[in-house]
Formats: sequence, structure tokens, C-alpha cells
Amino acid sequence: MLRGSKVGLRARYEDDVPILRAGLYDDVVNSSRAEGGPWRPVVPGSKDPRLVVDETDQRTVRFSVVELEGGMLLGDATLWGIDTHNRSAHLGLGLLPSARGKGYGTDAVAVLCHYGFVVRGLQRLQVETLSDNAAMLRSAERNGFVREGVRRSAAWVLGEFLDEVLLGLLAQEWKRDSAETTA
Ligand SMILES: CC(C)(COP(=O)(O)OP(=O)(O)OC[C@H]1O[C@@H](n2cnc3c(N)ncnc32)[C@H](O)[C@@H]1OP(=O)(O)O)[C@@H](O)C(=O)NCCC(=O)NCCS
Repeated sequence: MLRGSKVGLRARYEDDVPILRAGLYDDVVNSSRAEGGPWRPVVPGSKDPRLVVDETDQRTVRFSVVELEGGMLLGDATLWGIDTHNRSAHLGLGLLPSARGKGYGTDAVAVLCHYGFVVRGLQRLQVETLSDNAAMLRSAERNGFVREGVRRSAAWVLGEFLDEVLLGLLAQEWKRDSAETTA
């Protein structure tokens, strides 16, 4: 497991799946804002790759986020679009509603950075989020991500076009502090 100061990132367990489905992917507004595509209902038992890890997909690493103290499931964290030539990847994060606004997101970004830069030896990490997603913007900026641009009206979200902000962080800019790996 990878450990930060508040959260751990571990493998996806079978028991996590129904909780994440109900808390994240059955939520039409959250899904529509976070997924970059239309919401569709997820059938119980589905092998949807957001829920069930596809081990043949070398470009994606999906974690369950858990509370360090007690191990309670908090959400999903993903390193996706891993490009081993350009040594870059994107971060994705979705916390269950009850876990938001408590500092877990900021810490989960720190742990994903540790995984990307230290474990995987990447050079660049990227976050894309809607321009009104203050919590995601702040979680990334707290970890040193800088705003690199705005993709105007890039996202169709429940009846309107919204701007998307692109943030990037390079390995040499990253200040490793809280996150580290333990067995
Ligand atoms: C986005 C998300 C991962 C952030 O994680 P979080 O644990 O809620 O964020 P944190 O508690 O670490 O807060 C980070 C910062 O944002 C601020 N913040 C948190 N929630 C906020 C809100 N609703 N509005 C404004 N600011 C907010 C916090 O005060 C904190 O600021 P600070 O560093 O200046 O103190 C989480 O809210 C989430 O999963 N949301 C739904 C899914 C989503 O939007 N995913 C991202 C898709 S790109």
C-alpha cells in the first residue's frame, strides 16, 4: 500500500465495487461532471473498468483510497493515460460524498504524485478538471500543480458547455514531503 499522511492507496477489492458504484457512478451529477462523457447506469455485477481493474491495461493504474486509520473506503484514485515514451500520465480522483472536504483529496493527490514520479519514474503529471471544481483545483495546486491553460467550453455537462482547466506538474518541480511507500 502507498501511504500519505491521511490516506492509503491500495488495490481494488471486490467489496469496494458496490460502494463506489452507489457513491460515485450512480450519481448522475457527479458522473457527468467527472467523466467527460454521458452518464449511463452501471449494472450491478458489471465489469465496468472504472470499478473492476483490467490487468491487461498497462496504461491505467487504479487504486482504492482508504483512510489510514481504520482502513475505511474513501474513493477511487487513478493514474491513467500512462505514456512510457513521453513519461507522462494523468491523475483522476473521485471521493465518496461523505469523504469530501476533509483534506483526503489533497493527500491522495500527493500519494498519486509519489506513485507517478518515484515508483513509475514519470516526468510529467497532468490534471484536467472543470473550471468551477474548486476542491479539485485546490487539491492539485496544493501539491504544486500549475494552471497551464483553459480549454474553453470543452465539456458538455448536463445541458451546458463548461470550461476545463489543465494543470501540470513536472518531476523537478514536485516537492516530495508527506507521501511515501511502505510495504
Ligand atoms: C475533488 C475532490 C477529489 C477533492 O478532494 P477533497 O478531499 O474534497 O478536497 P480537500 O478536502 O483536500 O480540499 C482541498 C481544498 O479545496 C477546498 N475545498 C474543498 N471542498 C470545497 C468546495 N466544495 N468548495 C470550495 N473549496 C473547497 C478546501 O478548503 C481545500 O482548500 P485549502 O487547501 O485552501 O484548505 C473531491 O471533492 C471529490 O471527489 N469530488 C467529487 C468528484 C470530483 O470532482 N473529482 C474530480 C474530477 S476531475
